[in-house]
Amino acid sequence: MAIFSDDDLDRLRSYYPERPGELSHTLTGHPLLTLESLVELGKRLPRKSVEYNAGDLPYGVDPDKVSHTGLSVEDTIRGIEECGSWMVLKNVDQDPAYKALLDEALNELAPVIEPVSGEMLTRVGFIFVSSPDAVTPFHLDPEHNVLLQIRGSKTMMIVPGEKDVVPDEKHEAYHVGGHRNVPWQDDYEGRGHKFELTPGDAVHVPLMWPHWVKNGPEPSISFSITWKSRWVYEEADARGMNHLLRKWGMNPASPAAFPKRSAGKAYAYRALRKAGVLPKGA
Ligand SMILES: [Fe+2]
Repeated sequence: MAIFSDDDLDRLRSYYPERPGELSHTLTGHPLLTLESLVELGKRLPRKSVEYNAGDLPYGVDPDKVSHTGLSVEDTIRGIEECGSWMVLKNVDQDPAYKALLDEALNELAPVIEPVSGEMLTRVGFIFVSSPDAVTPFHLDPEHNVLLQIRGSKTMMIVPGEKDVVPDEKHEAYHVGGHRNVPWQDDYEGRGHKFELTPGDAVHVPLMWPHWVKNGPEPSISFSITWKSRWVYEEADARGMNHLLRKWGMNPASPAAFPKRSAGKAYAYRALRKAGVLPKGA
């Protein structure tokens, strides 16, 4: 059975790449996405691929203030109903069975995506396991993303990545290693897109649009399928170049919005990187 229907592909065609929007999927109940399978996956993955945190956070949060729960990966997943935490299993495609599942899902989307943004590069899967009411603070991600809700419900607030929400300096700092969290203000809610996700729902999250996620009253499992495009890499290097230019006292123009390219700045930054002359932290 296909993961996405023809109707989903039509809808994604109308959203991609610049609008968030709802889709559906058929992976609910898939044997690789049960809590038991995820305990086993969490044990197999390298420690650096498993991130877990306390779940009772406000929407906007200083990354230095996020506490760890002191539980093991296995205890966190098994105790997810009461331990008040969220956990991310990153790069689940390191495991062959999960890589096959990720490819199956992304291959179905490729006929919609590739005519728009070219080859789907750097395919990566993330699985989020979270406790009732857990909050993932407001943040942005550097990849194209479709999030599939597998178990439980969650609310996702996605806000356009406009300059007053994510200033150029924040993008630039992020591209040279800064944290992904973004300060939240309640008045963003009026211009955001709010999605109520239940099992079988999915949502397209546009590149670099910040979002927060709040879990419903049940434990939740979500599967995020992501990819990059050549445009993503070029934009990132143009941001890196702008970071340098700003350091040198200039006020550089923002990179062009999709699908316009920022080839000049990106090539300049790549040349500096290749020559090994980038200053530390740039
Ligand atoms: Fe995210």
